Amino acid sequence: LARGTGGRDLAGRHVVVSAGGTREPIDPVRFIGNRSSGLQGYALARTAAARGARVTLVSANVALPDPAGAEVVAVGSAEEMHKAVLAAAPGADAVVMAAAVADFRPSGYRASKIKKAEGAEPEPIRLVKNPDILAELGRDRRPGQVIVGFAAETDDVLANGRAKLARKGSDLLVVNQVGENLTFGRPDNEAVILGADGSQTEVPRGAKDALAEVVWDLVAARLDPPTT
Ligand code: CTP
Ligand code: CA
Repeated sequence: LARGTGGRDLAGRHVVVSAGGTREPIDPVRFIGNRSSGLQGYALARTAAARGARVTLVSANVALPDPAGAEVVAVGSAEEMHKAVLAAAPGADAVVMAAAVADFRPSGYRASKIKKAEGAEPEPIRLVKNPDILAELGRDRRPGQVIVGFAAETDDVLANGRAKLARKGSDLLVVNQVGENLTFGRPDNEAVILGADGSQTEVPRGAKDALAEVVWDLVAARLDPPTT
């Protein structure tokens, strides 16, 4: 409805967006990270603010200026993102998890820098699972709250996306096809947005802002009418 009209259809709403990629510390100088630039999450935050929403942006390790109108909460690791998102979510009308959250973290943080030992092979790094923030949001949501996930898939992109949507208990899942030179760090994106109601919305390759606007259209259509 509001798309292209400059409408403030998210006025009076509070949305939480996560962006960027978590870093899982190994020792004081090293981490396990990923290629997320944060561009899509920042586009979501910017466009939601422009449509009138109060925006909390939980941001992990990006090199981007704060989007106008968003409250930015900076985090590093998946556990920090978990804490920040769950703290902001309870009052939110919608939560969009655009961040790339590490599935695993090193089982133990080494307070001292790991050194090469003469003649010895390196120690393996044991990994443990991180909390699944999106799955928790889906499980603990309050009635009427809209939960949105992102998924980067290869191979059978749609089948993987449908299965993931069901597993996470989200309302919407934005599915990107990834491969060399697709998606990461690029200003444009192409996606299929799957709905728990069976809907499927194809978004042709275009600016990440354009994809963000479609996400907010689909979210707005699923929000309860404002209580005034
Ligand atoms: N996500 C999350 N917490 C995690 C991992 C992922 O909240 N520990 C969120 C991401 O922000 C994204 C969605 O879940 O919105 C899907 O992430 P993805 O990595 O595609 O899903 P996984 O369940 O981790 O499955 P996979 O084994 O394919 O990585
Ligand atoms: Ca994952």
